[in-house]
Amino acid sequence: MATGISTGTAELRDITRMERIGAHSHIHGLGLDERFEPRANSQGMVGQGKARKAAGLVLKMVQEGRMAGRAILMAGPPSTGKTAIAMGMAQSLGSDVPFTMIGASEVFSLSMSKTEALTQALRRSIGVRIKEETEIIEGEVVEIQIDRSLTGATKTGKLTIKTTDMETVYDLGNKMVDALSKEKVLAGDVISIDKASGRITKLGRSVARSKDYDAMGADTKFVQCPEGELQQRKEVTHTVSLHEIDVINSRTQGFLALFAGDTGEIKPELRDQINTKVAEWREEGKATVVPGVLFIDEVHMLDIECFSFLNRALENELAPIVIMASNRGMAKIRGTKYKSPHGLPADLLDRVLIVSTKAYEPEEIEQIIQIRCDEEDVKLSPEALQVLTSMAASTTLRYALHLISCANLIARRRKADVVDKDDLRRCYMYFMDEKRSVQWLKEQQGNLMFEEAEDDNAMQM
Ligand SMILES: Nc1ncnc2c1ncn2[C@@H]1O[C@H](COP(=O)(O)OP(=O)(O)O)[C@@H](O)[C@H]1O
Ligand SMILES: [Mg+2]
Repeated sequence: MATGISTGTAELRDITRMERIGAHSHIHGLGLDERFEPRANSQGMVGQGKARKAAGLVLKMVQEGRMAGRAILMAGPPSTGKTAIAMGMAQSLGSDVPFTMIGASEVFSLSMSKTEALTQALRRSIGVRIKEETEIIEGEVVEIQIDRSLTGATKTGKLTIKTTDMETVYDLGNKMVDALSKEKVLAGDVISIDKASGRITKLGRSVARSKDYDAMGADTKFVQCPEGELQQRKEVTHTVSLHEIDVINSRTQGFLALFAGDTGEIKPELRDQINTKVAEWREEGKATVVPGVLFIDEVHMLDIECFSFLNRALENELAPIVIMASNRGMAKIRGTKYKSPHGLPADLLDRVLIVSTKAYEPEEIEQIIQIRCDEEDVKLSPEALQVLTSMAASTTLRYALHLISCANLIARRRKADVVDKDDLRRCYMYFMDEKRSVQWLKEQQGNLMFEEAEDDNAMQM
């Protein structure tokens, strides 16, 4: 059975990864120099030097492929940049090293068991770099002739294509006729056809035909007519994740399920077959395994079963690097009645390297606010910047960053381009931060539903 494993690369090559926008869109990397020293303010990153350096070292080890099955824990108070640093790492990894980010609570879904969800996340984070030889036909189009049947249902045709040394006529079927017209291929174009997938790429227009038309677009590229054989073998490499291979082989409409995200549970037998196949490819030198990074945010939300599963999974030969983030101090391990640092059991803590993040200095806060304002296209008056910085110090950085766009709206309503300190004060009145909210709850004693239970498990941030 294992022979029939497909990598679905023809389909997957077309999927472009989505751009992330939002709270961390100003972050473009870790902002380190060549010696992994953190620059004061670079790539959207400010301060938190030690944690950034540690993250950089981890990245280096990932890139050298030396580190697999290790775990890192980022521990620190809320809004000290734990998620931001993870995003920075994701941006600095090469484009073919997988980075997966999940929130721990995503694991508790109704359609999948916890361990299946974790397995999928782990396998998403391992890339398989596959070398494949494909046969291509590359040449200059001499003539395209298309015959449509009377009903228009079937199309056939002939394609004459040449190199400087030879010329051949190919018969065209329905699919190829469509592909040619979709790419708007004309006589005189130099094209390349992937024989396995039937994919056509236009390489440019032949130089010999450059004088045929005078109404060329400015972006028309002129290329020489290829030399030698029409048919060539070419080696291509591409990377897919183990999870993608799993899904593609798990059902008939495999790769469509990848788009829908509705992958369901995947049978362990299939995974075994795929692992065997990948091992075979590795031995034959056809593929290399690229351990990527799995980031689990708010990891204290996992329960004891997940933790012990992770413990085991990290020992697997095909394990990615797992980075976890937690903002808890001593907290109860979910699913038990025991307390443990960061809400993680001691045996897992024993395996992880802990990177701590600390609260920011006012100057750093000011710079981060400035970066966010540039990102959101908001101008703050110098006074407003000062006020917002001190607000951030007395509340949290995240709260202050959230006020920026809101204050901008208020400023625009009074037809000003620059946000003033009064706009910020207004926002500060409209929206409560956590401390004031707690204060308000105390004042409202008894008026709201569900008073807190006296329990040592009460939320601690
Ligand atoms: N060192 C930093 N440089 C630039 N922006 C930062 C930095 N640290 C945090 N931020 C920004 O502050 C906000 C809160 O940080 P976040 O990483 O979400 O905190 P948490 O530690 O709770 O995950 C985010 O918008 C983040 O992008
Ligand atoms: Mg976070």
